[in-house]
Amino acid sequence: MKETVVSGIRSTGKLHLGNYYGALSNFVKMQDAYNCFFFIADLHSLTTHPTPGDLSRTVREVVVEYLAAGINPETSTIYVQSDVPEVAELYLYLNMNAYLGELERATAFKDKVRANPDNVNAGLLTYPVLMASDILLHHGTKVPVGKDQEQHLEMTRTFGNRFNRLYNVDYFQEAMAFSYSDKLVKIPGLDGNGKMGKSNGDASCVYLSDTPEVIRKKVMRAVSDAGPTEMNQPKPEAIQNLFDLMKVVSTADTLAHFEDLYNNCAIRYGDFKKQLAEDMVLATEPVRSRINDITNDDEYLKKVVRLGAEKASESARKTIREVREIIGIKKLF
Ligand code: TRP
Repeated sequence: MKETVVSGIRSTGKLHLGNYYGALSNFVKMQDAYNCFFFIADLHSLTTHPTPGDLSRTVREVVVEYLAAGINPETSTIYVQSDVPEVAELYLYLNMNAYLGELERATAFKDKVRANPDNVNAGLLTYPVLMASDILLHHGTKVPVGKDQEQHLEMTRTFGNRFNRLYNVDYFQEAMAFSYSDKLVKIPGLDGNGKMGKSNGDASCVYLSDTPEVIRKKVMRAVSDAGPTEMNQPKPEAIQNLFDLMKVVSTADTLAHFEDLYNNCAIRYGDFKKQLAEDMVLATEPVRSRINDITNDDEYLKKVVRLGAEKASESARKTIREVREIIGIKKLF
């Protein structure tokens, strides 16, 4: 039997190169080896109170972009979280055994409280319980997530084990963080520091749906400096970032060519950026054209989303039936 992989995708809209070369490429590689459930976490996003229009638009964008980037809806189960309301029922049961103290101690919760002191709602507090429900609903044992989610996975194991102990069963398995390749590719932003990320602003991100013109404009405006003045001098962060991006989208020859120019103080950043932009346009072309193909294809998207909901519901209904039985919830008559 194939092991089950579960991963939630934040429904914050458009995907950028960081998502593509990070989580997404992992997902695509896992599809054949594992029984994969990928879902758009629209219920989780309610903690920040999106408008109805924004909510449905971003869910659609994310579905389109994951499909365009290579998630196969036949082999994997790709679904919208709210299409499978069983997760809310499991969330309710698990909430009965999730304690205030441990929820308050979660780092992600504390960070959000600090960032938005006016919106400390109970959904935010119990976010890890909903996440545990996502995973346990399908008996997921492998969860491809980044470092920032490891504490949530530990809480998932705590809630599952606690349920097992309380009812004296061996029902939920432990879910572990999982990365297909141990080399995580670093995708820096264009703003001179840190990772490519929405929180660093649109100018730092190249989105999969950006047109070639937009990509060129963003890359040409990327932060650089006045250029090297000494042979073989170490690269400052902003320049290293551009080389790191080139490593991902360009050929080894191109990269070596510009490394040489840099080391000989002969690099012209205009040419360097132009090449980087063209290679980025080329690397993202297949995904972009697929996004354009399916973004207005209601028939196709409807088919995919329905199939996903069907497959996920089947697994979810079985779990809920068993959980109710374990808890002792049964029809009186
Ligand atoms: N919390 C995850 C994130 O912010 C998203 C998520 C929700 C998730 N439910 C999940 C990830 C279940 C893995 C499994 O990225």
